Amino acid sequence: MSALETKKVLEEKLSPVVKQAIEFSKTSTKGRKFSPLSPHSAFSLIDSTAETKQKWSDIGLEAISKGEVGVILMAGGQGTRLGSSKPKGCYNIGLPSNKSLFQIQAEKIIKVQTLANEKHNTNAKIYWYIMTSKPTRADTEQFFVDNKYFGLESSQVTFFNQGTLPCFDKNGEQILLESTDAIAQSPDGNGGLYKAIHTNGLLEDFTNKGIKHIHMYCVDNVLVRVADPVFIGFSIDKKFLLSTKVVRKRDASESVGLIVLDASNNRPSVIEYSEIDPKLAEQKDEDGLLHFRAANIVNHYYSVELLKERIPKWVDNQEFLPFHIAYKKIPSLNSEGVFEKPTEPNGIKLEQFIFDVFKDIENERFGSLEVERSEEFSPLKNGSGAANDTPETSVANYLDLSTKWVKAQGAEVDGKVEVSSLTSYAGEGLESVKGKKLENLQIV
Ligand code: UD1
Repeated sequence: MSALETKKVLEEKLSPVVKQAIEFSKTSTKGRKFSPLSPHSAFSLIDSTAETKQKWSDIGLEAISKGEVGVILMAGGQGTRLGSSKPKGCYNIGLPSNKSLFQIQAEKIIKVQTLANEKHNTNAKIYWYIMTSKPTRADTEQFFVDNKYFGLESSQVTFFNQGTLPCFDKNGEQILLESTDAIAQSPDGNGGLYKAIHTNGLLEDFTNKGIKHIHMYCVDNVLVRVADPVFIGFSIDKKFLLSTKVVRKRDASESVGLIVLDASNNRPSVIEYSEIDPKLAEQKDEDGLLHFRAANIVNHYYSVELLKERIPKWVDNQEFLPFHIAYKKIPSLNSEGVFEKPTEPNGIKLEQFIFDVFKDIENERFGSLEVERSEEFSPLKNGSGAANDTPETSVANYLDLSTKWVKAQGAEVDGKVEVSSLTSYAGEGLESVKGKKLENLQIV
């Protein structure tokens, strides 16, 4: 089929849905009632006792030691806000070690795998499944090869691509053309994960490898606890099919989704920051806290049992994975047929959101775990100089946490230090710094 024929067929099929998505984006929270999650779903690590945390950690480490834990990383986004031409995971945020986000995360996997195997005298592996997209695949794979998989075995790492969706003009009527023989396309959003799992045969791979639990997270968080045994143990202990980590929302305008309960069906749901009514975002409780404050940090636990059962139903189903729209600058042929790189948004990219399937989870089988922001969440979204979520805030938050850990062990620090993920996963194993004087920007 020629590009023009494909364009016509897809326009007929998708244009009505895109127009619906445009309308939905204007009214998505209007007239709907939400409440914070009910107490039987919502737990907080901050309020949990040391015994409870230890119990969850033990359960999670045991699952890792049996080879039952797999990790999915979503790294298909184009990172347009950051303004880097390379995939975000390759980005050197400016730590003293100059480690990239991929390296920090690979080393977390190595460390937690070692902790689990040492505890249980086993030799299990954590398999890492990395979702890329057409724009990020080649650079990502090459980066891993060039860096010898950061110490992981290459057989532990699987790259797989998400799909694409056509880009439309601003009215949702016409598909934009990239050239006379190709339509303009973009990655199908992080909700494309489910289809990508399906089409790349990962469900069978999980079964063949004996993987029962998945930790899924996104690439841009320098503090992410990859394959976190506490989170996995929490989910196993509570028999949740799907669970998610949240932090307290910083302020009403922070660009984070909110985990809520949708009163219309009494099911968990996420209201995305791009679609929330500002009045709802600003609503406060009597104590001055935001009424809706459970911020989504895109760390989700899935039981493999759930994925096997539901993915076939979710994919290509607008009820579970509807399109969302984003107005973007899309390089394409203009009305005169000349290729242009616009300076203002000229069209719509369609995206599916990973959390839209939450409504398919029975309330009792869905959990959320509040974690401490300074220990687990510092996203890299914007380029240097922006007000927040920049390379500088990522570095500052990483060094602050490292410094807190070594000070807790009795080290004296002149400034800040960087604790390598290979030295400590979450603050443990740092006894040797006791009584030592550490220099500013020293790597421990
Ligand atoms: C996302 C969440 C938001 C959350 C915030 C926290 C979604 C839809 N939104 O928003 O609720 O509060 O993170 O930081 O989950 N990605 C792909 N393929 C794509 C698009 C994105 O793999 O087509 C990946 C990115 O590489 C990244 C992750 O998804 O790892 C998040 O993408 P991004 O678009 O930056 O999300 P936010 O808009 O910040």
